[in-house]
Amino acid sequence: MTKLINCILNKDLSCVPVWFMRQAGRYLPEFREIRLQNKNFIKLCLDSNLSSEITLQPLKRFNLDAAIIFSDILIIPYALGQKVTFEKNEGPHLSSIDITNLLNVKEEDFIRKLNPVYEAIKKTKKKLNKNKSLISFIGAPWTLIVYMFDLKKSKNQIDLNKLKESERNIKIVLDVIIKYLCIHLINQVKSGADVVQIFDSWAGLIPEKKLTDYCYEPNKKIVEFCKQNNIPVICFPKGIKKNYKEFAEKVNPDCLSLDYEIDPEWAKINLSKFCLQGGMDPKILLKNEIEIFREVDKYLNIFKGHPYIFNLGHGLLPETDPAILQKVVERVKSFK
Ligand code: CP3
Repeated sequence: MTKLINCILNKDLSCVPVWFMRQAGRYLPEFREIRLQNKNFIKLCLDSNLSSEITLQPLKRFNLDAAIIFSDILIIPYALGQKVTFEKNEGPHLSSIDITNLLNVKEEDFIRKLNPVYEAIKKTKKKLNKNKSLISFIGAPWTLIVYMFDLKKSKNQIDLNKLKESERNIKIVLDVIIKYLCIHLINQVKSGADVVQIFDSWAGLIPEKKLTDYCYEPNKKIVEFCKQNNIPVICFPKGIKKNYKEFAEKVNPDCLSLDYEIDPEWAKINLSKFCLQGGMDPKILLKNEIEIFREVDKYLNIFKGHPYIFNLGHGLLPETDPAILQKVVERVKSFK
């Protein structure tokens, strides 16, 4: 059993496993080089050789406990028929949703479109050291809905009128997405993934009284599917603040990933039953070594004696220096 799985499932305390969200990405020159030659991001995600190579890039540099398969959460709307493009410095753009089309998607077409992801997982698994885990992931239904219905007004706000107008359609689409997310998830595990992380990156934008419908319930259905299939599952309901406690109690995942707004001391007390992951603000990694180590040590000390996976409170920023990440990994590994 890998260190990561032993921590998640058995609450093993003999070491603090470490990996990073967005560990395969733009802060690595070797990623940027491949990206420069592959302008179409979705196509790159669906090139199983390149995707496997990118997945393993951070593990060649650092003593990480897990690889996370290089793909994107928006591969799901793509496989369900929406066009997905990434403009430089603009973020993703999706063609408008067609509900009739979506309801007519055939399972075999969906799986065929995503087959390169499963091939990439098989290729990566073969090359991965047996004591390292392979993490697969999906976007949570709400976070996908935000992109599929283009609900965002500005960086950190959703268009509440649009949300209200789309309510009926969202309800229909939610069930379809959950079905296909479970298909994608089980196929990733059958191909060799050891654990799944569910990214609810925009959970913090849900109006409080809609949290049950759009966050707790959809995540819970997927977590229950994981449990039925013995798949270890990590949830990341980013931005919901104190509602992490209610989320944890209702959804009951094997592990909770903390965002950078969560006070780690609060988490240790209020989420005490759960294996915890992450928390440190990725912006800290842009500071000097003394400040970085102080913050790393803070998280390690607070979670001493608690099942804890070192990670960040969101993805690594493109400006991060790989050399400092090397030192952070060594610091975590030598912590006693
Ligand atoms: O290393 C890893 O973590 C694995 C690969 C991974 C990517 N995206 C690759 C990627 C993972 C796990 C994701 C998840 C993802 N994608 C999320 C959830 C996590 C989070 O960051 O909140 C979300 C919301 C997306 C959607 C997405 N994909 C956005 C908003 C963008 C553009 C802006 C940005 O943050 O880069 C992407 C593009 C993307 N996905 C890149 C990478 C490496 C950058 C592509 C590039 O321009 O080179």
